[in-house]
Amino acid sequence: MSQLVDLVIFGGTGDLSTRKLLPALYQLHRHGLAERIGRIIATGRGEMDTPTFRTEAEGNLRRFLADNHWNEAYWSRFRDSLHYVQVEADDNNDYADLAALLNEGGAPIRLYYLATLPSLYGTICQHLDRAGAINSHSRVVLEKPLGHDLESCRAINEDVARVFSEESTFRIDHYLGKETVQNLLAVRFGNPLLHPVWKNTFVDNVQITVAEEIGVEGRGSYYAKTGALRDMVQNHLLQVLSIVAMEPPASLDASDIRDEKMKVLRCLQPITAANVKACTVRGRYDAGAVGGQAVKGFLEEAEYKDAENTETFVALKATINNWRWAGVPFYLRTGKRLSRRYSEIVIEFKKQPFSLFANDPNELTNKLVIRLQPDETITMHTLNKKPGLTRNLRLQPVELQLTDDRNDDDDSYDAYERLLLDAINGDQTLFMRRDEVETAWRWIDTIIEAWEETAMPVKSYNSGTMGPNASTALTARDDRSWYE
Ligand code: BG6
Repeated sequence: MSQLVDLVIFGGTGDLSTRKLLPALYQLHRHGLAERIGRIIATGRGEMDTPTFRTEAEGNLRRFLADNHWNEAYWSRFRDSLHYVQVEADDNNDYADLAALLNEGGAPIRLYYLATLPSLYGTICQHLDRAGAINSHSRVVLEKPLGHDLESCRAINEDVARVFSEESTFRIDHYLGKETVQNLLAVRFGNPLLHPVWKNTFVDNVQITVAEEIGVEGRGSYYAKTGALRDMVQNHLLQVLSIVAMEPPASLDASDIRDEKMKVLRCLQPITAANVKACTVRGRYDAGAVGGQAVKGFLEEAEYKDAENTETFVALKATINNWRWAGVPFYLRTGKRLSRRYSEIVIEFKKQPFSLFANDPNELTNKLVIRLQPDETITMHTLNKKPGLTRNLRLQPVELQLTDDRNDDDDSYDAYERLLLDAINGDQTLFMRRDEVETAWRWIDTIIEAWEETAMPVKSYNSGTMGPNASTALTARDDRSWYE
C-alpha cells in the first residue's frame, strides 16, 4: 500500500488554486485516482474557518467544472479532505499552527505546493523548516514564474535548496502535463518510420505556435513587467522545443529524459545584438475584435499605461547547434489577443529535389502537425493524386489522422491533474530540473539584453490578427511561411 500524502497549498485561495488546482484535485477523486491523497490544506492570508472555505470551494468548483463532472458523492468525499489555515508568509506562529495540524494524525508524506509570489518561496521554506514541518519525505512544488532573469531564478533556487533537495523539488510547467506533449514522446520514439527522418537531412523547419485569444486579463501589473518572452517562451515554448528536438533518452526515467532536454537547451545559439533584429519580433496588441467581440488595446487598458515597452507577442527564429538540427530553423511565436486560441507544433519536411507534378512546388511538402489545444490531434499531411482524367498529373493534400478518436471525454485529463498526481507519486519526469530552468533563462536574458542594446521596437498589431507584419516577414526572409 502506497503511503498517504497531505497536500498543503500556499496561495490556497488564489486564482490558480481556485481555477486549476482544486478542480484538478476534485477530478482525481472523480477518476478514482485520489487514493493516496490525505488532507488538502489550503493556506491564505485571509481569516477564514474550514467550513467557510469548504462552502467557497463548492461554489468555485460548480463554476469551473463542466456540468456533467459535478457529482454530490465525489464532492462530499472531497469536501471532507479540505481544510483551511491562515498563514502570513513571515509569521512564525502561523507555521506553528500549520505544523500542529499536520502532526495531528497526519499522512507520512507532505507535499507543499507554492503558488504565491515566487519572492516568498524562500521565506516559506525556511519557516516550514523552523516549524519542524519538513521531514525526509516532504516535497515542494514550485509554480512559475521562477524569477524574471537568471539571477533572480538562481536566488529562488538557492533559497529553496537550503531546505529541499533537488530530488524533492518539483518545478511545474503545465505545458509538460498536456496529453499531446507526452504523446509526442510516444510518437517520436515509438514509430520506427519517423525515427530516420527526424533530423536536418529531411526536416526543413519546425514551427511552434501558442496563440491566445485572451488579453492580459486581471494580471496587467505582473504582465507589464514580464512580457511574452519571459511569460511564455522561457518556459512553455522552450520546454516543448526541447522535447521536439531531444535525442532518444537512455530510458523513460526522469533523469534520462531531463538530461536529453538539457542538452538541447545548451545547444541553442545565443541571439545577440548582432542578429536580434533579424531573428526576433516584438508586438503589442491594439484595439480590434476577437471572436466577434470588440476589445481594447493593451495600452488603453487602464492599469498598464506605463507598458509601452512590454511585448504581448513575440516571434523568433531559434537555431540549435548540434548534428541533428544544424541548419533547421525553429520558428517560435506566441501572443495574446490573436485571431484564435490554438497551440501547435509543425514539423515541415523538405521538398522533393525535383517536382514531376503540375503543382506549385510550394504545395508539395509533407508536414506533421501536432495540435496541443483546443483539440489534441496529430495529423500527417501527405499528397496523392487529384482524381481525374487530365494529362498533367496534379497532387492534392491528404491528411492522415494519427489520433485515437475512440477516447471519450472521461479519458481526458487536465494538465494539472496529471502533474499533481505525478508530484503525489514522486515522479519528476514532467517537472523541470534546476539546470534546465537556469539554462533557459541564460538564453532569454541574452535576447533581452540585445533588445535593450538595440532599442528593439515593439510593433503594434490589431487584436484578432496573428501578430505584427514583421512576424510574416521573419519567415518570408527565409522563403518560408507560418503554417496557418
Ligand atoms: C501561463 C501564462 O503560464 O500560461 C499565461 O502565464 C498564459 O499568460 C497561460 O495565458 C496559457 O496556458 P494555456 O494552458 O491556457 O495555454
